[in-house]
Amino acid sequence: MTDAGRHPKIKLHTLSEIVDVKGYVGNFEITIHQKARYVDETQCTACGECARVCPVVRPDEFNLGLSSRKAIYSPFPQAVPAAYVLNANECLGHNPVVCGKCLEACEKHCIDFYMSDRQIVEKVGSIVVATGLEIYDPKENDEYGYTRFENVLTSLEFERLINAGGPTRGEVVRPTDRRRPKSVGFIQCVGSRSARKGASYCSNVCCMNTIKSTLMLKENYPDMDVKVFYIDIRAFGKGFEDLYLRSRRLGVQYLRGLPGKVEETSDKSLHVAVENTSSGGLELHDLDMLVLALGVKPSSGARKLQEMLGLQLTPDGFFLEAHPKLQPVDAATRGVFFAGCAEGPKDIKESVTQASAASARAIRLMHRGEISAEPITSEIIDRLCKSCGKCAEVCPYNAISVDVKKKTPAVVNTAACAGCGTCAAECAFDAITMNHYTDDQIVRQVDALLETHPGEKILTFACNWCSYAGADYAGVSRLQYPPNVRLIRTMCSGRVDEKFIWEGFAKGAPVILVSGCHIGDCHYIDANKWTEKRVERVRKRMEKLGIRAERLQLEWISAAEGIRFARIMSRMEDLRRSVTPEEIRETQKILAKQKTKKQELSEQAE
Ligand code: FES
Repeated sequence: MTDAGRHPKIKLHTLSEIVDVKGYVGNFEITIHQKARYVDETQCTACGECARVCPVVRPDEFNLGLSSRKAIYSPFPQAVPAAYVLNANECLGHNPVVCGKCLEACEKHCIDFYMSDRQIVEKVGSIVVATGLEIYDPKENDEYGYTRFENVLTSLEFERLINAGGPTRGEVVRPTDRRRPKSVGFIQCVGSRSARKGASYCSNVCCMNTIKSTLMLKENYPDMDVKVFYIDIRAFGKGFEDLYLRSRRLGVQYLRGLPGKVEETSDKSLHVAVENTSSGGLELHDLDMLVLALGVKPSSGARKLQEMLGLQLTPDGFFLEAHPKLQPVDAATRGVFFAGCAEGPKDIKESVTQASAASARAIRLMHRGEISAEPITSEIIDRLCKSCGKCAEVCPYNAISVDVKKKTPAVVNTAACAGCGTCAAECAFDAITMNHYTDDQIVRQVDALLETHPGEKILTFACNWCSYAGADYAGVSRLQYPPNVRLIRTMCSGRVDEKFIWEGFAKGAPVILVSGCHIGDCHYIDANKWTEKRVERVRKRMEKLGIRAERLQLEWISAAEGIRFARIMSRMEDLRRSVTPEEIRETQKILAKQKTKKQELSEQAE
């Protein structure tokens, strides 16, 4: 942090919050709200004279209330910049000036009560989202008596207690009587791995944090009785299993089972009842102190940032990467990267690795001084655009802007457009064309594939990233699937326009399959949710026209699902066999009639 603070090319904005993000890769404009520090950080030497005279005493947030601080304070010992900050809500001398003791004590005259919050605008080419995490609040369920029993601590409070720089200088003492506990118990998975209490995912870091704490306890106090109550210990990672075994060798008892009841005794110790799932017996343990290994949750500001940057969140609330294996630090929005727990719970080593990868990805993108845009982008045909705003609504990248009131044609920001084609597929007026994969090209592919013996073909639209790759995988794996499958590749299933489907049926296709990435895996954020809606819409229309809706299928196939691809194709073949030549002819007749009707209507309108 100090290195970052000193680096000539790194600008740190502390006490700041991002309030708006505009623009696109290479050209982002960030509006920052910076709170007033009331101390000139360039002059302050953190001598501490101001804090010494300040009469206001408040709980120190850094030590989680286990110590106190003044209204003017240094947030924590390694804070960058190494300058004090004044909390205006707590200060007595701020408005009106009734105290002002710190003003007199500061020889360098760094304190300025008239400083005010300000807005800063920064222009940047890429963004790394590193919003960190929050911890589970044990007060939410209070199953282990955290709010009732003083000697029940959270893992973070315990961390401050055992830390040499903490409020007790590393001496572990009970909060109630300040004496050293003879026995300490740790309860794992508090707020993790439970859909009812906290989050259903594993928080990744708590097992190793507890193991580290037990090692520290045993090294400092070998006679202390240390017990860990757990569901299972997850010590994966280099050297982690060794630490776990070392902890056991030092005498830490690992008991499989989470406590069912915690009670306080008259001397403020804790009486813990637990079903040991290894032995099957009910056990009672008396402990002087209990530590809750808290799970982690996404930062509370993640949702706001997600909206500003047009990012996606997982159902757990962490940011979703563009691809878990191939682009693990990239957001689907070009020029945005993730580092650390913003993307999911991870330990320090993983966070540092991801941060290095994210900065390398950003450098790789920016170092040439220019960015090449995607060749496949959408383009508005101004004369056909009715400014309805549908394209802007469906664009996963916010790359299209429409002034619905002024009724001016939509505008595509080609630097932000990723080329999924959802806008072109959803435009009811055919006012959007794609550069590459045009409507005309795809319709001609449909016609060519169904030119001869259409009744024997299985027409399949496959997205480039998942289902087309799944077909490829099935092929290289030498899997058997019907030879009459005919694939049309689109960049995303979101590109599959209704008219391609109608064209297929009009040309005699017995069945049509639209396939793409699984929901949540679409390479264009959530474009395939529009595919789902569109296919449903077409099916309803088919039913209305008297065409069997079952003949249009939608399947999600990932690049690794070669077997699934082959199975689906065999199923499609069974479906194809169920469609008779009469049924196909009847469909063609219905669609031809519809076409004539439409033409007549448009001629009348003209
Ligand atoms: Fe595969 Fe969107 S990229 S469905």
